[in-house]
Amino acid sequence: MLRHWSGHALLASFVCIAACGNSQNSNDSGSGRPGGGTPGGGSGGTGSGAANGADGAGTSDGAGDGTGDADAAGGSDGGARGSAILVNSYDGARATTESLDLAWKFHLGDVSGAQATTFDDSSWTAVDVPHDWSISLPFDQSSPGTYQSGYLDGGIGWYRKSVTLPGSSSGQRVIVQFDGVYMDSTVWLNGTQICARPYGYSSFECDFTSSAKFGASNLLAVKINNQQPSSRWYSGSGIYRHVWLKTVNPVHVAYTGTRVTTTQVSAASATVNIAVTVKNDAASDQSVSVASSVRDASGTEVAKAAADAKTVTAGKTADATQTVTVTNPKLWSVSSPTLYSVVTTVSVGGAVVDTYTTPFGIRTFAFDASSGFSLNGTKMKINGVCMHHDLGSLGSAVNYRAIEKRLQRLKEMGANAIRTSHNPPAPELLDIADRLGFLVMDEAFDCWYNGKNTYDYGRFFRQWANTDITDMVARDLNHPGIIIWSIGNEVGETSDSATVTELMDAIETKDTTRPIGQALAAWAQADTPAVGLEDVVGINYVPDRYDSIHTAHPTWKMFASESSSALRSRGIYNNNNNQCSSYDDFAAGWGQTAETSWKNVNTRAWIAGEFIWTGVDYIGEPTPYTWPSKSSYFGAIDTADFPKDVFYFYQSKWNASGPTMVHVVPMNWTNWTAGQSVKVMVYTNADGVELFLNGKSQGSKTMDAATGHLEWSVPFAMGTLEAKATKGGRVVASDKVQTAGAAASLVLTADRTTVAADGRDLAFVEVDVVDAQGVLVPQASNTINFTIEGPGTIVGVDNGDSTSHESYKGQSRSAFSGKALVIIQATTTPGTVTLKAASGTLAGTSAVIVTKTP
Ligand code: GAL
Repeated sequence: MLRHWSGHALLASFVCIAACGNSQNSNDSGSGRPGGGTPGGGSGGTGSGAANGADGAGTSDGAGDGTGDADAAGGSDGGARGSAILVNSYDGARATTESLDLAWKFHLGDVSGAQATTFDDSSWTAVDVPHDWSISLPFDQSSPGTYQSGYLDGGIGWYRKSVTLPGSSSGQRVIVQFDGVYMDSTVWLNGTQICARPYGYSSFECDFTSSAKFGASNLLAVKINNQQPSSRWYSGSGIYRHVWLKTVNPVHVAYTGTRVTTTQVSAASATVNIAVTVKNDAASDQSVSVASSVRDASGTEVAKAAADAKTVTAGKTADATQTVTVTNPKLWSVSSPTLYSVVTTVSVGGAVVDTYTTPFGIRTFAFDASSGFSLNGTKMKINGVCMHHDLGSLGSAVNYRAIEKRLQRLKEMGANAIRTSHNPPAPELLDIADRLGFLVMDEAFDCWYNGKNTYDYGRFFRQWANTDITDMVARDLNHPGIIIWSIGNEVGETSDSATVTELMDAIETKDTTRPIGQALAAWAQADTPAVGLEDVVGINYVPDRYDSIHTAHPTWKMFASESSSALRSRGIYNNNNNQCSSYDDFAAGWGQTAETSWKNVNTRAWIAGEFIWTGVDYIGEPTPYTWPSKSSYFGAIDTADFPKDVFYFYQSKWNASGPTMVHVVPMNWTNWTAGQSVKVMVYTNADGVELFLNGKSQGSKTMDAATGHLEWSVPFAMGTLEAKATKGGRVVASDKVQTAGAAASLVLTADRTTVAADGRDLAFVEVDVVDAQGVLVPQASNTINFTIEGPGTIVGVDNGDSTSHESYKGQSRSAFSGKALVIIQATTTPGTVTLKAASGTLAGTSAVIVTKTP
């Protein structure tokens, strides 16, 4: 059944809100932004002269700059307790913080009194987190989550875990950090409620010290209330990100307490400003010293600063700021993402009480109303993708390797930017983005106080928005990739300048080095005066309005915060059976094809770039269909990580100077009738292409920068269709599709044959159904059964087919367009894992993966 763009029924309310001038906002405490101007640094990122008072040396009330060694403070007993001193090494890589991921008990549904230590959870299910309970549920057409959640329910869930705290930790602070719990969570320790957090996409910490029992077991309980409908896409449910136990000295670097900014960047040197917030949870004032060591990517110290001792009042925080110079800095960029780190050492009475590592990068960037975006002084287009957070068959449960693999695939496609639509991402995504070289638009909200769904964040916005957005910025601000803070996506209340101002003010309490903007439902909102308050203007869709908006507001720094929303199913070339054509000829009513969208952006220098909707398919929002479709068609890559044809369009354009490539559409040269005229498209970054059918030339065509693809009409004949790409008259690349015979066997290909035996690492095994000659059978849909031996488990199966209702957690999967995917997770025991695949009369096969102690 075709859905008539009902997802965009919101349009009506946007129009009303804009026209009705609904600007009421109960919070009148906002100080207001003077004259709607941009904040310091708003236009220039962290670069040249964008610095402001908050970043500079000597502006803090904290420990101040210092040159002497922090060895003489003496007199304080706050930290000098010999073996009781624990070093708080919770760093950006989160390598040494104690994980609380393992051995939880889980119960789906509400229970009374499950926070009590005496509660009997023996019948509950043993799980490790990150855990997403929704992904294991059956697809249910009557789920209150509707098509938006992919017909997977939420509900109420409970988690319990016992945590033993050593007696030696007595006197320390015991803090549990949740990277994300979806949603509306309440946390207890030993029966006492410690904290609660409604927003399921925020990271937060709970200080358990007052209820902790040292030298004993403690009961941690978490209740989650994920009523549906909530997010407009699949959110997943549960403790779906990591959980950390931090045991720190009462004097320690505060949560998200470091801020590293770079100013005055040149080839010869970079000024690095370091601000550290120290927290003193001790009963008495403490004399504290903060030292910083700046390390390059190899860990070699390249600059350092030490600080004089400074008193931090009991129960308070104080900031220390330092400024150092790095000579001959290696700049962070999308093609060369060099990272540095600052190792902060906090000492009391000459003894180290805390160390804290903050990765950062040195770069400048700027948005310009006429010339678009530049990084390190070089103009470039933002070739970005919008991305929801689910990881296909893994659901929302965070896995480092799964995110890394996804980003590697996007990089291969030529993407250089990610918009974390429409919420703060897992911290790992930002770490990986920095490491692989992605710019990031870090987005806080999909809705404000009016909400978009009955049980979404709108219920909590007025009370929590400032906290959530401030926490997001504080957590993420050291990532060099982040170039925009986004205060919302297509929120209906955009004309409410008071809220715009309040959110911008909240951000600027933490960071003034990035521009602030939002993704506007531009068909209704681009003319709202409140937009002028923002530093950059994100336009969703309406390319036909780009020019008029630019003309009306020539000083606006514009970019396409959302574009395209084209639809396609991998290996399918028509719009039948709830599938979408891969000829890049089908888009949502408000969208454009990939090619049109790319042209609209790339013919206008003043548009900084685009974030296409979407890089990867996600669960939920199966526009243009509803049931049985349950996942999106928007991705250039499907949920099983397989590229669709349009992936190669982006590769040819976004990576135009990359390795020469050529790709033939359709990927199917089998299911046509003899003589049928078949539309053949070719994507390439070469100069031209000659197309051959069974060795006979179908003609040559030439590419130029403005051409999206080359096209032929070829009468179908069985055999081989081959595109030979040429540069300077020489064949530099080729791609071919061949007619397949009957399915004969399976081929398994693992992305890596050696993985870490760490209980987390993954091998992605691609399963191809091939004919007797090894040619992919493009319409094969055989059901494939998997068995596994050795120290690994199957944690996900998928084929990218939106209409499939097979469980993502099964041990079998049908192929879709000839392919399926199996994800294997290593256990902690090193050894050899064998995955066997069998399907009826097809010749079975196996893949071997070695897992090694990391
Ligand atoms: C946009 C919206 C996205 C998604 C998309 C689908 O307007 O911001 O969240 O719904 O439409 O095309």
